[in-house]
Amino acid sequence: MKAFARWTVLLLSVGTVGYGLFAYFLLEPGSTVHPEMKAAYAEHPVRILAHVGFSAVALLAGPFQFFPGLRKRMKLHRALGFVYFVGVGVGGVAGFFTALIAYGGLVSQAGFGLLAIVWLWTAAEALRAIRQRDFTRHELWALRCFALTFAAVTLRIQLGLFGAASGSFDDYYPLLAWSSWVPNLIFIEWVLKRR
Ligand code: HEM
Repeated sequence: MKAFARWTVLLLSVGTVGYGLFAYFLLEPGSTVHPEMKAAYAEHPVRILAHVGFSAVALLAGPFQFFPGLRKRMKLHRALGFVYFVGVGVGGVAGFFTALIAYGGLVSQAGFGLLAIVWLWTAAEALRAIRQRDFTRHELWALRCFALTFAAVTLRIQLGLFGAASGSFDDYYPLLAWSSWVPNLIFIEWVLKRR
């Protein structure tokens, strides 16, 4: 990953983590989103707080793994990797159960639910590869997994773009549950294929 892309990914990730932790651990959870989402989170506080908290850990730890200087420091890479996979593990399971109460009906719930399953699967493959000391496969699956973690960033960029295009939230939100991650996966497969 080129230096400019690495720093852009890091800054966008830190910004999204900042939003999530501020909006869910300093403000009343859901006070920055649609009132029906806020009501759903008030009824299910544990899953949304576990989701935001642990997913934020994954989104914060992930980008550092792509800095060559840090990756060479194997102890640090392993420690950050452990923190990342715990974040994906708990954030993903909580994300799956949050998908069951997602706003926007079946289309949203299916989109976020499938994202949670694929996110957990790619993390499991990356872990399995490193257990087998297959470093190439580990890197492939770790890149796929982070492309999905980055869905939290692409979702909020798309939210801004659709909002600016003044579409109706109810019309475009279910689409976001798919467009926030499917293009990420297609892009990373294209990058990996080109390699
Ligand atoms: C990549 C796998 C992820 C999945 C499957 C997932 C799933 C979900 C679902 C289903 C919701 C509820 C949406 C609704 O109520 O309509 C949600 C909300 C949320 N998620 Fe995630 N998420 C993921 C990654 C992340 C990451 C990495 C963060 C990091 C900060 C994050 C932060 C949030 C926040 C802050 C909310 C509350 C809604 C908002 O204020 O924007 N999610 N997520």
